[in-house]
Amino acid sequence: MADSSKEEKIRQIMERKEDHINICLDKPVQARRVRTLFENMHLLNNSLPEIDFDEIDTSTTFLGHKFSVPLMIGAMTGGADLAKRINKNLAEAAEEIGIGMVVGSQRAGLYDESLAATYSIARESAPSIFIGSNIGGAQISRGFSVDEARNLVSMIGANAFYIHLNPAQEIIQPEGDTKYRNVLEGIGRFCKEITVPVVVKEVGFGISGEVSAKLEHAGVKAIEVAGMGGTSYAAVEYYRAREMKLEMKEKMGELFWDWGIPTAAALYLVKKSVSLPVVSSGGIRSGLEIAKSIALGASLAATAWPLLRAATQSKEAVMVKLNEFAFGLKTAMFLLGCRNLDELRGVRYVTTGELKEWMEQL
Ligand SMILES: Cc1cc2nc3c(=O)[nH]c(=O)nc-3n(C[C@H](O)[C@H](O)[C@H](O)COP(=O)(O)O)c2cc1C
Repeated sequence: MADSSKEEKIRQIMERKEDHINICLDKPVQARRVRTLFENMHLLNNSLPEIDFDEIDTSTTFLGHKFSVPLMIGAMTGGADLAKRINKNLAEAAEEIGIGMVVGSQRAGLYDESLAATYSIARESAPSIFIGSNIGGAQISRGFSVDEARNLVSMIGANAFYIHLNPAQEIIQPEGDTKYRNVLEGIGRFCKEITVPVVVKEVGFGISGEVSAKLEHAGVKAIEVAGMGGTSYAAVEYYRAREMKLEMKEKMGELFWDWGIPTAAALYLVKKSVSLPVVSSGGIRSGLEIAKSIALGASLAATAWPLLRAATQSKEAVMVKLNEFAFGLKTAMFLLGCRNLDELRGVRYVTTGELKEWMEQL
């Protein structure tokens, strides 16, 4: 790439990454009419838990790595100065608590060393935790190579290679890439040729049972559902399209704002379709929702947007949020009489309303 066009490319990437962060901080970007449907899942209060709060153990393992709480910091960012600070604060907090994190799409890191540093800061700040690399399905369709994937993994000493599937984002994103052929085949290739496990996630529109079965067949080692009910990337791109006066994209952002499979339904459908570890994400906003996710069969939950503002501030601010999630989970376990996550996986629950309909009809 000629120097000036490379510089221009880097500038565009940094601007886009900052746009995403600033829009998520300043504008309403959460689902409007659709919710996760965890509100339709009811756990049974146990007035005789017969355990002490302090004996509750929330630890677990995910892809061979120990987590003190079944919680992952969801993929967010990298590729800009503000993103570097965010990744540092997130990683330091994750290291202190003993949970994992996934960095944002790393394509930017391949262009330039200073951009790579906005991702590798996560590993420098958190030497011992699980960290996931990240690239998008559209890049795979464009022929993203196994060598490039290996570079991303070594850039951050990653323990897993995450691929995000985001056709609904790409179609609304002003500079989105709507070539989405041969992604499954590419995923299969990565599964065979890179040494770390491949994990596939959505970005908030939800993975279906059918898609998850294809991914399992391709060799993927875990699936993160990233369903609807939390951050809407149609909303995020809607604001960018409006700013750029791209009227059709703006209209599509509005129309598909609430598009997607609600998270609790996606989790149920994926669990039913595969025998892989499944991560519950998209609109996870409390420890109680982590508890519900585990009861519905998730190995972990992941949360992104609720940590963003705190991550622009400090490690301590992120820890306040994470500790609230952890305490909420532990409180739910106390009220269910569960000493550990295996016991939580066995609790009975009732589903009502729309969640019940999703479960009965698919
Ligand atoms: C600021 C921001 C940036 C994001 N960037 C990425 C990304 O680069 N790659 C990715 O896989 N997901 C990305 N996501 C999506 C999240 O990982 C997650 O799937 C989605 O936000 C739903 O979770 P939430 O409701 O807890 O935010 C991003 C989310 C936010 C809020």
